[in-house]
Amino acid sequence: MTQANERRGLFITVEGGDGAGKTTQIKKIAEYFEGKNIPTLTTREPGGTPEAEKIRDLLVKRDGGNWTPEAETLLFFTARHMHVETVIKPALAKGVTVICDRFTDSTRAYQCYGHGLNREFVEQTNRLAINGFSPHLTLILDLPVELGVKRSMQHNAQTQSTEDRFESLDLSFHEKLRQGFLDIAKKNKDRCYVIDASKDMDSVTSDILDVFDKRLGGVDGRNG
Ligand code: TYD
Repeated sequence: MTQANERRGLFITVEGGDGAGKTTQIKKIAEYFEGKNIPTLTTREPGGTPEAEKIRDLLVKRDGGNWTPEAETLLFFTARHMHVETVIKPALAKGVTVICDRFTDSTRAYQCYGHGLNREFVEQTNRLAINGFSPHLTLILDLPVELGVKRSMQHNAQTQSTEDRFESLDLSFHEKLRQGFLDIAKKNKDRCYVIDASKDMDSVTSDILDVFDKRLGGVDGRNG
């Protein structure tokens, strides 16, 4: 079990379906904490360490092959174990606030709600791989599926992204994901905040900062 004094920094995760604008909002969140002179690290999953980035390539690029949901989950948690042990925990112990683009809630949403994997498989792997290590606070960027897919396609066209394996899935899959994230939020009210990501970028940022001001008012990066 992680001791409180090993988690002096805050661990914040940002979740949501494709096209929710996570990347932009994560930059704004980092600026908010840096503005309060709190050292900040932004990172992502799958990835965040050289080893985990290799696993990311297997999972998100088209030439990664077709994994079963179980195998996929084991790979996500292999990457997550490296990320937690070698990057996230050491940063938190130094009082750094860690902002992570996706974490275990994505496995729950994509692999369980999306692909129908047994939830207990994910929860058991979660315990085994990272001892259930969980964020202090999770932002779930929520928006209607059609809008998310539209934004995501525009983004891919602009960046010529090759990471389109997940984003090519159909609308009903994205609807399951959305409902999955909302259900996760309902079951974890103390940790999860649903943000309406259909608004314009600045309004979404302002709604996120409101959550921090309410929830973390007076935060100095050393509580946890
Ligand atoms: P990411 O690049 O963050 O996607 P996005 O472009 O939506 O920000 O993540 C790559 C994909 O991996 C994304 O479609 C979600 C998926 N994923 C899972 O299926 N399970 C997981 O545990 C994680 C972390 C990601």
